[in-house]
Amino acid sequence: MAPVDPHSYTDSTHPFTTHISLSLYLDFATSTIHGSALLSLSSPHSGPLHLDTRSLTISSVLDPTTLLPLPFSLSPTPNPILGSLLSVSLSSHSSVLILFSTSPSSSALQWLSPSQTSSLVHPFVYTQCQSIHARSIFPCHDTPAARVRFAALLNIPRALSAVMAASHVSRRDPNPGESNLSDALWCAPDRVVEQFAMEQPIPPYLFAFAVGEIGFRDLGPRTRVYAEGGKKVLDAAEREFAGVEEMVRVGERLFGPYDWERFDLLVLPPSFPYGGMENPRMVFLTPTVIKGDATGAQVVAHELAHSWTGNLITNKTNEDFWLNEGFTTYAERRIVEVVQGEERAALNMGIGWRGLTRMMERFKDNMEFTKLNPNMADVDPDDVYSEVPYEKGFQFLWRIERQIGRPAFDEFLKTYIATFKFQSIDTETFLDFLKTNLPGIENQVDLRTWVEGTGIPPDAMEPISAIYTKIRSLSLDFKLGKMPREDEVADWRGQEWELYLENLPDSVDPLQIAALDARYRLAESRDWEVKVAFLQVAVSSGCKEYFGEVERTLKQVGRMKYLRPLYTALVQGSAREEEKMLARRIFMEARDSYHPIAQGVVESILSKHS
Ligand code: BES
Ligand code: ZN
Repeated sequence: MAPVDPHSYTDSTHPFTTHISLSLYLDFATSTIHGSALLSLSSPHSGPLHLDTRSLTISSVLDPTTLLPLPFSLSPTPNPILGSLLSVSLSSHSSVLILFSTSPSSSALQWLSPSQTSSLVHPFVYTQCQSIHARSIFPCHDTPAARVRFAALLNIPRALSAVMAASHVSRRDPNPGESNLSDALWCAPDRVVEQFAMEQPIPPYLFAFAVGEIGFRDLGPRTRVYAEGGKKVLDAAEREFAGVEEMVRVGERLFGPYDWERFDLLVLPPSFPYGGMENPRMVFLTPTVIKGDATGAQVVAHELAHSWTGNLITNKTNEDFWLNEGFTTYAERRIVEVVQGEERAALNMGIGWRGLTRMMERFKDNMEFTKLNPNMADVDPDDVYSEVPYEKGFQFLWRIERQIGRPAFDEFLKTYIATFKFQSIDTETFLDFLKTNLPGIENQVDLRTWVEGTGIPPDAMEPISAIYTKIRSLSLDFKLGKMPREDEVADWRGQEWELYLENLPDSVDPLQIAALDARYRLAESRDWEVKVAFLQVAVSSGCKEYFGEVERTLKQVGRMKYLRPLYTALVQGSAREEEKMLARRIFMEARDSYHPIAQGVVESILSKHS
């Protein structure tokens, strides 16, 4: 066995899958998908072929031409991180057909009952496959080292519609005999088929769909926003994302042609565990970015930037995750700089810097995860997800930019993207390319320290700007009992408050916190970043009067960026029995409304501090 990726059973001596043809029957009553996957391989293969699965039931493995069964085995005890190895036995086969069912606890899928949606009438289901959850929907080589084209038939209730990170081929009546399920089920009168194709090769973690009562508004010639939740959400989304086409053009100017044809957005229900997910052709977004003040643009800029860095050039394994997120954070800030100005970009850099320094604290007993290129054997990527790959990666690229100047760096970036597009690469490949294209760079920037070292390298740079310095000094004044004056905060938007709150000392006088809130109403902010940053300081400082607001917040959203700090603030530290009990009760009551990935993350926070 020769693994290619510590998070996959894929064996480097076996051929990779190059195309997957899926037919999926979505059964909302049992939160189950009954499906078939036809996997085409890069070359004919004899002997065992290793595939990833998690909580899948495999009913049969067939020769696609003869439909005769092929021998297979599924490891009986799943590995807690990798799931279960499916080994199928081939003889000169270049494709294999697998019939399977998902489990209601599939880690990639969140099934929402009608009462958990905004419309309250229809159920909803959506996927989140990054980092290693695609294997809980269908068996595959679930490593970003693999690049796969897809065809998919989604058989769904006629009252619903489906969207996918792929091109939509048709919505039509089911055809008898086109699936491996009984025609009685597949062709029932209340069912419809939505057909999709993804013709560009993508890593499996970018596989994505959603099904429910989904409406849309056109935003531009190649952009459209989809959402569950009816007219109100769509109106707000249309306003929030009006500038998306302009951003795509800015992206093209900076990084080269947009290769994915369409750039659509899907606004998900509040339980979506991330701010955004860069699914190709259709970015998935949390509704919390719709604030009515156009700040959602930052998250959109980030997910758009992935169209080049991440989706065109992909990290080979999760150990190279910084190649996705560090480059994307850099690219995001370049887009923001053009569409919102240098000051906004500088503010984002400041918030990022604070996040990076906080991560040094979080990982002080586990410095491996302060490395750009950490060893992740036996580590669940969801457990160590942090700002390090984003912000240390950003800092690394910014350091190179400062060394060679922006024009040269811009040219380097474009060549890098053009050279490796539609490939999955590792950190060494990037370093080799860097040294070849910028001869002598290794004598000017200590590449080894940046990539292999722990902590923040000495030549990283705190992003100083007038507004950043002003806000930092106001935060420090707070320790001396001073509150910012009305005239000082008059033109502050969410990000200014976020930076201010993030820079307050860890534990402050509870009376002072209450006074700050009495004056500026931060706990009730409509901006979730501000609200959560405030509640986090409040809880850490022992202000019990905010427990009610914390509970409401934890029950309204499932975005992990908010769950993580709030649950952690509650349970961290000694002598916090009341807070710990509160955290456990809230989680018990809110658990069902979270995505399975978020459930896992909160469970691990609570168990670490029990
Ligand atoms: N690809 C990530 C989200 C992700 C990372 C999902 C790892 C699963 C595993 C996405 O592009 C992202 O970084 N989202 C951020 C947006 C922010 C940096 C603007 C988020 O969700 O907060
Ligand atoms: Zn990202």
